[in-house]
Amino acid sequence: MRRPLVAGNWKMHGSRAENARLVEALIEAGGASASEVVVCPPAVYLWETARLIKGEELLLGAQNVCAETHPGAFTGEVSADMLADVGASYVLVGHSERRALYGETDALVARKFVATQAASLTPILCVGETLAEREQGLTDAVVARQLDAVLAVAGIRAFRRAVVAYEPVWAIGTGKNASPEQAEAVHAFIRDRIASQDATIAAALRLLYGGSVKAANAAEIFAQPNVDGGLVGGASLKADEFLRICAASG
Ligand code: PGA
Repeated sequence: MRRPLVAGNWKMHGSRAENARLVEALIEAGGASASEVVVCPPAVYLWETARLIKGEELLLGAQNVCAETHPGAFTGEVSADMLADVGASYVLVGHSERRALYGETDALVARKFVATQAASLTPILCVGETLAEREQGLTDAVVARQLDAVLAVAGIRAFRRAVVAYEPVWAIGTGKNASPEQAEAVHAFIRDRIASQDATIAAALRLLYGGSVKAANAAEIFAQPNVDGGLVGGASLKADEFLRICAASG
């Protein structure tokens, strides 16, 4: 059985005080969940968030990581070891905003995936096509290319300790989610592609859907056989909404 996972990606939102209020609201109303629930605050708030969630069921994730694994002259970067040191368990790797706005290539994403695992953290590898790519019938090809780049560098066994998030770029922050059928089709494609290398690893791999997930659409998306939870942006900034999404996943 794959335990569902819901991760809240807060992106570059909030302040120290707002962040603490959100975490406290999640803790207060949260209680035990059948799903794993991960919050990914901006990097500067990771440490404080870690302290707030200590002893609670919530887990901590980072939104990004440096591909370099050794300390050194990498101004502005944060290493996977540092993220582990402050209590993170997960790292988003290859989010489409990192790919599109900060020029992250498939090769760099693969290095970040490896760096994350080297620090005993679990990467949440994000893949997904743009609207133009979907319209040209390239969805599977794009997702395959993004997955294969990581498989080539990290190897299939690395996917025993990883999560994959399918996030169609056209659905992120647009209010226009993929239909449950569209999500399921790509998730099944991803699982098959992993299964072609190792069926056992594929069967256990958690596949999250992301892109305009909200309380109103979460249940039907999460009900798909190959959808094991969600990566939630905007809707994770409101405690009530996020908790309803988490409840829909379990
Ligand atoms: P969204 O973002 O839920 O606001 O569409 C999802 C994400 O970017 O992870």
